[in-house]
Amino acid sequence: MNLETIHNGKLVNTTLDLKEAYEWACNGPHHLVPYNKQSYKQLNELDKKSINLYGDHLRELTKYTSKCKHITEVGHNVGHTARVFTQHKPETFIAYDILDFSNNRVKELCEANDINYKFMITDSLKIDINNFEETDFLWLDGNHSYEHVYKELNKFSNKVRMYIFSDDTEAEGTPGPTGYGVIKGFNKFLSENNEWVLETQSILGPGFIGIKRK
Ligand SMILES: C[S@@+](CC[C@H](N)C(=O)[O-])C[C@H]1O[C@@H](n2cnc3c(N)ncnc32)[C@H](O)[C@@H]1O
Repeated sequence: MNLETIHNGKLVNTTLDLKEAYEWACNGPHHLVPYNKQSYKQLNELDKKSINLYGDHLRELTKYTSKCKHITEVGHNVGHTARVFTQHKPETFIAYDILDFSNNRVKELCEANDINYKFMITDSLKIDINNFEETDFLWLDGNHSYEHVYKELNKFSNKVRMYIFSDDTEAEGTPGPTGYGVIKGFNKFLSENNEWVLETQSILGPGFIGIKRK
């Protein structure tokens, strides 16, 4: 798997095999314990740490997700954002990740709250758009390179009824596998698509950007 990553503040290309990519995904800055060795108790502790680190950031985002009945997430991982975004009980929560994160607590949470939950393992750019359900809120939290974000926006925007958001817009935020091209990707998309407008840009925590259908 070819990824761009941050090393000593510089964007470099790297080749990871799937096992290494899985390790990366599980042991990023806020995943202090390898995922497959985490008990629910440890995961709950990690959630508390995330809430401490990202509390304001997540609370701000839920102002938008709480208005939405159908939410889609690209970049599911262990489901920190998913658990927050499902708190107001949307009807449907759909998640994608390039790696297998099916063994997480979002499924249980959704079952308990009667939320229709689907998780699919795929690269976002390989999703068959005909099978991609129309959604109110699209959360792009996978590959954060400029090229990838721009392609995702062009690919999915026609299927999004209200908002598209992404995070890691601040250099000091959590580095994605691919560095920070989010704002550039959104700005290019906005300059070419006048049915979308900037809704908000936040510097809380890792930062986020959100656009809204006019
Ligand atoms: C920062 S993590 C997402 C965190 C997650 N939203 C959470 O709160 O737990 C980024 C995730 O995106 C996934 N990812 C990276 N590139 C992807 C792609 N092209 N398509 C789908 N998922 C991707 C990674 O495997 C990783 O699990």
